Amino acid sequence: MIDGRAIWTRNAVPKHSQYGESLRRFKGIEYRRWDPNRSKLGAALTRARQTQYELLPEPGDTCLYLGAGHGTSLSHLHDHVCGESNREKGRIIAIDLSPRCLRDLIHMSKKRPGLVPVLGDARKHSAWGIMVANRVDWLLQDVSQAGQADIFISAVHRFLKPGGKGLLSLKAASERWSGEGERAVFDAVAEQLEQAGLTIVERIDLHGLEDNHCLYYITN
Ligand SMILES: C[S@@+](CC[C@H](N)C(=O)[O-])C[C@H]1O[C@@H](n2cnc3c(N)ncnc32)[C@H](O)[C@@H]1O
Repeated sequence: MIDGRAIWTRNAVPKHSQYGESLRRFKGIEYRRWDPNRSKLGAALTRARQTQYELLPEPGDTCLYLGAGHGTSLSHLHDHVCGESNREKGRIIAIDLSPRCLRDLIHMSKKRPGLVPVLGDARKHSAWGIMVANRVDWLLQDVSQAGQADIFISAVHRFLKPGGKGLLSLKAASERWSGEGERAVFDAVAEQLEQAGLTIVERIDLHGLEDNHCLYYITN
């Protein structure tokens, strides 16, 4: 739900705040405020010019999230795709490399059915690909490490349905760059995505909310 400049998701775990975000009731339903300073997906929803209403998957979709971290963005995604007791029958497979993050994600999944946390390296499909039985409707990658575009392209080719939605959150400082500036890094990645056969629907600059970051919304 978008209310002025704020974004809210219907809380799938009533009375529970995931990361200190505010809760409010509207017409008897509880919502959580999606903080765009704490979530790149939230920042992209705030900043998108043409695609704000398209960026998210549909309720009930199957999603793959590479680099789910401690679950800040994921919690809102889960509100939207699965909802309370997974009434929407969605599924979100959330991969992260860090055992600390996994511990938090497993804890979260107990209250959020439909969420499937997996400890794994986004680059090593053979280790966790079996968890993704069918191609997914929506794929988000937010791993701040070098080679982000290569990792994303390979995941899109392997896991995203034709015509699916893919979101790459790119951190310029994580790439090895030769000092030509972050804009040049963002341009080079855009070219790489297009050369891999992906169509960039919108390139969203997150500057001011998540400095040094750009989010590419693609379809395949
Ligand atoms: C910026 S944080 C993610 C924040 C999260 N997406 C959010 O918005 O709430 C990046 C995460 O990527 C994970 N990561 C880094 N390299 C990875 C890889 N190769 N495979 C899986 N996860 C990775 C890190 O452990 C970290 O939790």
